[in-house]
Amino acid sequence: METNVTVSQHLCGVPQCTLVIFGISGDLTHRLLMPALYNLARLKRLPKDFRIIGVGRSAMAVERLRDDLTRSMQDFVSEQGGEASVGGIDQEFWDQVVRRLEYVSGHIEDVATYEKLSQLLKGSKAASGGGNVLFYLAVAAQFFGPVVKHLGKAGLAREEAGAWRRIIIEKPFGRDLQSARALNRDVLAVFREEQVFRIDHFLGKETVQNIMAFRFGNGLFEPIWNRDRIDHVQITVAEIVGVERRGVFYDATGALRDMVPNHLFQLFTMLAMEPPISFEADAVRDKKQEVLMAVRPLSGEAVLRETVRAQYAEGTVRGRAVRSYRGEPNVAAASRTETYVALRLMIENWRWAGVPFYLRTGKALTRRNTEIAIQFKQPPLALFRDTAAADCIPNWLVLQIQPNEGISLQFGAKVPGPDVRLDAVKMGFLYKDYFRTSPSTGYETLIYDAMIGDATLFQRADNIEAGWRIVQPVLDIWSGGQGSIWTYSAGSAGPKEADDLLAKDGRAWRPL
Ligand code: BG6
Repeated sequence: METNVTVSQHLCGVPQCTLVIFGISGDLTHRLLMPALYNLARLKRLPKDFRIIGVGRSAMAVERLRDDLTRSMQDFVSEQGGEASVGGIDQEFWDQVVRRLEYVSGHIEDVATYEKLSQLLKGSKAASGGGNVLFYLAVAAQFFGPVVKHLGKAGLAREEAGAWRRIIIEKPFGRDLQSARALNRDVLAVFREEQVFRIDHFLGKETVQNIMAFRFGNGLFEPIWNRDRIDHVQITVAEIVGVERRGVFYDATGALRDMVPNHLFQLFTMLAMEPPISFEADAVRDKKQEVLMAVRPLSGEAVLRETVRAQYAEGTVRGRAVRSYRGEPNVAAASRTETYVALRLMIENWRWAGVPFYLRTGKALTRRNTEIAIQFKQPPLALFRDTAAADCIPNWLVLQIQPNEGISLQFGAKVPGPDVRLDAVKMGFLYKDYFRTSPSTGYETLIYDAMIGDATLFQRADNIEAGWRIVQPVLDIWSGGQGSIWTYSAGSAGPKEADDLLAKDGRAWRPL
């Protein structure tokens, strides 16, 4: 069984359709979308007469585009050990993707571009499902609104004669609550919600999808998944990369906007949601929404008390010298943009009242590690009162999202010998021990699900806005200049102040 490259639970055939990629020459298309399409070809999950139309700015022959994409694909597979490496191109399947590629050149704000696109789309045989079109916005976020408006004006969003029109919109969806609302308004003026697929690529990860399977597919865990048995939860997304070549984007964005209302909140809601009545898209998204709506608002004093922001200073990450964030290209010399954020959230509902959720994410840290760690409450201890085992070993259940994907459970066991002494032991499951995994980009499932019309792994308009609503007070307080911005050395586990956030509650982060 292949895990990383499996595509949803649906076994039905994928309908005939055309994929239109805006931003065909961009980084996302080269690094992720084309490899994902190639993987789908290998899995025989592309429609028989699939068409791909790329839209890009440069005037060039389609052959040149095909060559460029092939070169990127070759570089990509030769990145030995690269997470998404496909271990050598299988020409037969790659040809299925590149040979299908057509090209429209033109500016995405120019009406003529949409006229050309419209002409090309008319060439598909509507009777055989060729009228179905999936638009993919792999362009910079400021173009999401304009492209949608142009599609609307050109009549390209209209569903006629039983054919569907859908749109995939990349992240970032807005940069605060107001802009996210405005973008939702623009999008929903042209498309119905059912036609819109807002991406959060974390939902393409098998380990993230598995959170629901783990919780609701097993009888063992759900009864203890609540405030009676759980002490607290830690969600960590630690990266070793710095801002690399993304200084312009990142300095205007920061760790909070870049990671929290989207990726971290996906992990958070998957973990905390109530069981949905089915795996239908809206049933799942309703339950996630309830979690977000139940988060105790952070405002004023609470922001200063419950959040920590920091920036990396120079240091060494895995033996490599790293300059300070402010010394990175395209970053302001006096930048106050955070590259690390930690926060404490409380969910005010029956299941979670009183259980803190600590979230942290940062760049240029000591180790790449994305995990959800659940600490269970201690036993009453009376039995071990007078022994060396008085300090009980905490029970940790850790969902290891990446790398070393798996799940582990820590508990205390008696150390053999005449004395009563407990030590921490671990039971573990690693994906690679059980499943034959082939590397994937994580976009395979998402593209496939959009083609078959399953929106379970995509964000609904209200989910996006609820995420922004939680972080908006933090953005407001920080942008108003309140609250310190701390520093941490590149290659460390983050700022001391993030440790203090947990220490105030008598707790500590798990080591990175
Ligand atoms: C992106 C962020 O959305 O997610 C990046 O913009 C971040 O800053 C990336 O590095 C992390 O994704 P992954 O899949 O590499 O963990």
